[in-house]
Amino acid sequence: MLRTVVCVSGGGTNLQAIIDAVEAGRVTNVELVGVISNNKSAKALERAANHGIPGLCISPKDYEDREQFNEAFLEKLNAFAPDLIVLAGFLVKIPPAMVKEYGNRIINIHPSLIPSFCGVGYYGLKVHEKVLERGVKVTGATVHFVNDGMDEGPIIAQKAVCVEEGDTPEILQRRVMEQAEWILLPQAIDDFANNRIRVVDGKVIHK
Ligand code: GRF
Repeated sequence: MLRTVVCVSGGGTNLQAIIDAVEAGRVTNVELVGVISNNKSAKALERAANHGIPGLCISPKDYEDREQFNEAFLEKLNAFAPDLIVLAGFLVKIPPAMVKEYGNRIINIHPSLIPSFCGVGYYGLKVHEKVLERGVKVTGATVHFVNDGMDEGPIIAQKAVCVEEGDTPEILQRRVMEQAEWILLPQAIDDFANNRIRVVDGKVIHK
């Protein structure tokens, strides 16, 4: 069983999709051993508790500087002895030491088709605002491994979602979640946990 830690910042609907998929047996070989939030009032922590998954909060705000936070964060993460780390709407930059220690074992979900609408400043609702501003007709979601860049790691899976006339950022966000994120992320975790993906020359190969 792959010891899996999920990092969250907010509502935790992606976390819920993972929990549901594990409980329903759609994701196998995975044990959810912990949830880490940078926000103590995140609904995601409640969702974890409801399913008996240990949760904890660690926020950069409680540390003097980023370096101290990064050290403490890595320590708390290591205490779970994870095999896989899933960033499910986690708004904190992953410390370089963590990326190094868990190379190609950290997965992130991003609510657009990377390399469009990603990078610095593109998070949460802002992504969908920019999509609507630009007037693209297709958006979607991407699951990728995390490297030192911002949304730059090897892409595991992508799914397209149509933008519709009259969409607001909130409506579009919900559609991207329902039609792409909640499906794609559990699938990618299942693929990882069952050795169906590997990284070759910076690209993901599905076996
Ligand atoms: C999702 O759209 C995720 O892709 C983005 O932030 C949102 C988090 O939603 N990075 P939730 O907390 O999983 O409900």
